Amino acid sequence: MTHVLLEKKEHVAIATINRPKALNALNSEVLADLNELVDTVNADSDIYALVLTGSGEKAFVAGADIGEMSTLTKAEGEAFGKKGNDVFRKIETMPIPTIAAVNGFALGGGCELSMACDIRLCADTAVFGQPETGLGITPGFGGTQRLARLIGPGMAKQLIYSARNIKADEALRVGLVNAVYPAEELMAAAEKLAATIAKNAPIAVRACKKAINEGLEVGMDEAVVIEEKLFGSCFETADQKEGMGAFLEKRKHEPYQNK
Ligand code: CAA
Repeated sequence: MTHVLLEKKEHVAIATINRPKALNALNSEVLADLNELVDTVNADSDIYALVLTGSGEKAFVAGADIGEMSTLTKAEGEAFGKKGNDVFRKIETMPIPTIAAVNGFALGGGCELSMACDIRLCADTAVFGQPETGLGITPGFGGTQRLARLIGPGMAKQLIYSARNIKADEALRVGLVNAVYPAEELMAAAEKLAATIAKNAPIAVRACKKAINEGLEVGMDEAVVIEEKLFGSCFETADQKEGMGAFLEKRKHEPYQNK
């Protein structure tokens, strides 16, 4: 991967989008690298959580690459949207939890990428927005769908129609991010949360992600059945036996084995 750096700290993977000259803007190469990142992380059963951030101090991701998009035809535009959507959906459906550590501009495709992650933490210097209508296009990597689901259709429509950027405090107020940190503390906070998640039974955590994501896509009657099946599947695991056994024996559980 040329534009994505990958580091591992115990059971946590930290991926950094690294195209600083263009504020980490997403061109086809970066999208291909993100696709490869997901394959690499998914193939490593030792990774229990992923933190995604941007290189440099200025930007998480400043959007899809405007230079690459500027000359696209209708069919090419649709294909570029599909390329981004496919990768972001792949990120969204990764079995392990994902945390976007938004360290600066998260505009257009950058905001959309953060929304494909499970959790968004940001620096107090972060700026979010969907500036696309100001460029003559719609959001194209899931923004019209995920923003509305995340913060509600009313506020999503206001942000998308107006193409207005918002700062970290407003992103927190509207529920786009879970927490804001001083910029220099962001990565430590993201890694700490990832490590906390990674200490819990990994199979159970992955089952929670699946239950929440898949349950949100169906009616409640079907959704609770999805939960019941995943809940039941945990009882076949060694980690459930250890977790409950430790509680009953009034001791701390052994580190979970992902089994
Ligand atoms: N695409 C391509 N290049 C980009 C870029 C983008 N989205 N964002 C920044 N860059 C490049 C700039 O062209 C510039 O390159 P040069 O030095 O070669 O000129 C470099 O990154 C630094 O950027 P600026 O000089 O503009 O930095 P700044 O601090 O003055 O401004 C900024 C920062 C406000 C983020 C500004 O760069 C900006 O507005 N960027 C575009 C943001 C945007 O509109 N994003 C949405 C794109 S559309 C989209 O994402 C569609 C979709 O949903 C899929």
